[in-house]
Amino acid sequence: MIICKLISEVRQIVKDQRANGRSIALVPTMGFLHQGHLTLVEEAKKSGAFVVMSIFVNPLQFGPNEDFARYPRDLEQDAQKAAGAGVDMIFNPEVDEMYPTRNLTYVEVGELGDTLCGASRPGHFRGVTTVVSKLLHCVQPDRAYFGQKDYQQYLIVRQMVQDLNFPLEVIAVPIVREEDGLAMSSRNVYLTPEQRTEALVLQRSLTEAEKWVHQGERSAQVIAEQIKAKITNETSGEVDYVEIRSADDLSALATLQGKVLIALAVRFGSTRLIDNKVLEGL
Ligand code: PAJ
Repeated sequence: MIICKLISEVRQIVKDQRANGRSIALVPTMGFLHQGHLTLVEEAKKSGAFVVMSIFVNPLQFGPNEDFARYPRDLEQDAQKAAGAGVDMIFNPEVDEMYPTRNLTYVEVGELGDTLCGASRPGHFRGVTTVVSKLLHCVQPDRAYFGQKDYQQYLIVRQMVQDLNFPLEVIAVPIVREEDGLAMSSRNVYLTPEQRTEALVLQRSLTEAEKWVHQGERSAQVIAEQIKAKITNETSGEVDYVEIRSADDLSALATLQGKVLIALAVRFGSTRLIDNKVLEGL
């Protein structure tokens, strides 16, 4: 497995692989890899492509009071895990390589980026779309893989790729969970043992919401309120949002119908966790 720090090296290697007839897949990450990231790699491998994984903790997508400085990093272990999963090349640029001057050009997706996580994290998705568009230009993949754990991010990237005519396919991969149901996240290491146990309420409340829907409940407000009550009554978690939206375009829904996203963000101490469930065919 090759580890590249420079955009020029990445371009050369990708060019050589293409000349050999390989297609190119990109798995963008911020590292501190877990099975969620590695499942994206497994999906990418299935296409037979040369798999590039980017590992870059992108300062542009962190707010001033967020965890950029303390975001967990462990390149050595990441390299081992990535090699084990069959990654062909890691692209691990320094911040100066990605942003050599004050970043003057931003890529911004309109409304989709202002709601849900975008409402509580102003500028976050502008940072994501800017770095993802730079990564897509550097690697020029045929396919790029994103997890549904960050469902809004997936929709935003898909929209950007469509609007800006990037010649690639965006592929969504289902959420990978720990055995007890907690969605895997690099940020789970911040949780105390008590918070780690409390955090199970996220998956539990989503599963329960699905049950209410199967029993016939269709009011978005009723379901959202019940989820909030459950989280607040059973744990110390502070609800940032519980929202029920169209899973196609995040538009608001009063009544559940079609393909529906139930998305939530909850704080345990200073750690903000997200989770979601997509219900289809309503
Ligand atoms: P990061 O949080 O490292 O996640 C990298 C990719 O892994 C994202 O597509 C994310 O949705 C996916 N992922 C994370 N946890 C997952 C899980 N439990 N199940 C399935 N997929 C999971 O998301 C980012 O980095 C950044 O915003 C990035 C896109 C790299 C831009 O900087």
